[in-house]
Amino acid sequence: MNSFKVLFTLAFFVCLLERVKLLDNGLARTPPMGWMSWGYYMCGDNCLDQPHKCLDEELILSVVDTFYNDGYQEAGYEYIVIDDCWSERERDSDGRLVPDRNRFPHGMKFISDYVTYIKFGHYLNKTERPIVYSCSWPYYIEFKHNKTPDYSKVSAHCNLWRNYHDVYTSWPSVRDIVNHYKMAYSTLYQHHGPGGWNDPDMLIIGTESLTESQSRIQLSVFAMLSAPLLLSCDMTKITEYERSLLQNLDLIAIAQDPLGIMAQPYELTYFITLWVKKHLPMKGDKYHSFSFALVNLYRRNFTVSFTPGSYGLQSKDGYTVMDVFTGNYLRNITLEDSIIVTVPFEDVILYTLYAL
Ligand SMILES: *[C@@H]1O[C@H](CO)[C@@H](O)[C@H](O)[C@H]1NC(C)=O
Ligand SMILES: *[C@@H]1O[C@H](CO)[C@@H](O)[C@H](O)[C@H]1NC(C)=O
Ligand SMILES: *[C@@H]1O[C@H](CO)[C@@H](O)[C@H](O)[C@H]1NC(C)=O
Repeated sequence: MNSFKVLFTLAFFVCLLERVKLLDNGLARTPPMGWMSWGYYMCGDNCLDQPHKCLDEELILSVVDTFYNDGYQEAGYEYIVIDDCWSERERDSDGRLVPDRNRFPHGMKFISDYVTYIKFGHYLNKTERPIVYSCSWPYYIEFKHNKTPDYSKVSAHCNLWRNYHDVYTSWPSVRDIVNHYKMAYSTLYQHHGPGGWNDPDMLIIGTESLTESQSRIQLSVFAMLSAPLLLSCDMTKITEYERSLLQNLDLIAIAQDPLGIMAQPYELTYFITLWVKKHLPMKGDKYHSFSFALVNLYRRNFTVSFTPGSYGLQSKDGYTVMDVFTGNYLRNITLEDSIIVTVPFEDVILYTLYAL
């Protein structure tokens, strides 16, 4: 992981896509991780009145610097996505989009060059300009036209696709997205994997809108889904705790697992959903590792019991249980053993089980 990729997402992506018959571009083999402007800065073009929400060259370069200097790059955050509103409203005389002259005075190539300038990798030597296709049409089909998206078609054309409402910077929005993915699991999981990802939208960690435990929920569920992990925040406002969470490599290993399987939700009780995900590493060529996320979206603690062996585990030698947030190995279990645990209010317990 030694280069950043700068993406410019554009409303006319859909037009581009129509010329592509089948998506086989070799990109996004694991879900993208990075930073994206829209959620926090939105259009960001009113820099005089709202300097702290100004989407400009200086901001993008400062995100690049933070990724590089503060450990995000090593942890796998490699995309910097500039959403809408980077261009002037008028095209140039050749009909090309022109970067906003005040906010991006050196143009967009300058920004891409800056990212190589600081010498990660040999991105510029790739003359073929790889572009990850991110689509929003499943969302419009389902929520504007009330039809069911044809996900086999979507996944043939796009690397990632949005299919639910935009996230906004509040806990109820995150809760709603988590519930939606739980409901939609049986439709979505079949069209999800290396090269094609359902996209529940951006992380709102770092926007001062989630408690620590709510942040754990958003990041854990997105990791369990194998969803893109795109921050959208002022990187200088990320707390120490949030940074350590975002750079938890055991958590990122779940999120970036090469198999890219979407975790399956089970209702343990009305209040507690257990998400189960099969992933690497394997013991020999037989026994996968599994992660279990017990998610409590409610304002009460609940104690639950579950038997990991009932969810597809097969190693007769048992499994060792690691708490992903502390990195501690808690105990070893057989296929018959149950785990009893209290899930605090608006929080998640996340275990990874490795075959012994
Ligand atoms: C470009 O990068 C690729 C991948 O690292 C490498 O194989 C190739 O030799 C590079 N080409 C040049 C001209 O540096
Ligand atoms: C689990 O089993 C392994 C292998 O026998 C052992 O090394 C380890 O200490 C055990 N871990 C716990 C927490 O008991
Ligand atoms: C809920 O769990 C939290 C965290 O473990 C604990 O601090 C708190 O006392 C518990 N509340 C109740 C009412 O049991």
